[in-house]
Amino acid sequence: MRDLFHSLLSSQQVGRSAGLLATLAEEAKQVGCEETEVIVANGIGFLSQAYEATAGLIGNTIVALASHRTVREQVRADPSLFRSVIKEVLRYDPPIQNTRRFLAQDGRVANQEMKEGDVVLVVLAAANRDPLANPNPEQFDIFRKDRHIFTFGAGPHICPGETLATMIASAGVEQLTASGVDLEQLARTVIYRSSVNARIALLATKEDA
Ligand code: HEM
Repeated sequence: MRDLFHSLLSSQQVGRSAGLLATLAEEAKQVGCEETEVIVANGIGFLSQAYEATAGLIGNTIVALASHRTVREQVRADPSLFRSVIKEVLRYDPPIQNTRRFLAQDGRVANQEMKEGDVVLVVLAAANRDPLANPNPEQFDIFRKDRHIFTFGAGPHICPGETLATMIASAGVEQLTASGVDLEQLARTVIYRSSVNARIALLATKEDA
């Protein structure tokens, strides 16, 4: 992957039209970073972060539509509701379940003595189901008022991809539904890819079964 990205970057830099990677390098240069290795690492990071979680969001939305007939009928009648479905999936069945924080120095966290370098596993998916943040959290409700979503993290390292991921997933799911795919059949046998932080549904078509 590194070799591929290195050669992609050099070919984009000599080419006439700047690709995404060359644009990233250009932006990095403007803030004082010219190390190719760093640009390449960040390019790979963008690619994998964007791909996995967004694929998970599409799959988990299919599962939600398959298991909620009323919602399925509502979005068929009014496709503008797809975005609300995606938002509720991000809360109810998020494709990324946790993130981590590492202690910069010894200290106390939630009344617990911790040492520099210790890890805090922040279970974002559980926070989404906190009744203080979202009343009746176990209810899948696309019309939920004041929805609080913790799925993209928080603070200085909050995910920068929320808008993009939501747009891609809405368009993907809308297109799939419009193509006449039988969602219930598609989500009949759902298994999940093994992962320490992601919940990515693997859906089987009739042919796969
Ligand atoms: C449904 C889709 C996505 C979910 C659920 C998701 C979730 C997350 C989470 C939980 C974090 C860690 C935040 C924290 O620790 O506070 C993160 C970081 C990040 N995400 Fe996403 N992400 C998604 C899509 C994307 C997309 C489409 C992109 C890029 C276009 C992206 C780029 C990144 C990057 C670069 C970071 C690191 C930010 C930093 O450390 O400063 N993500 N994401």
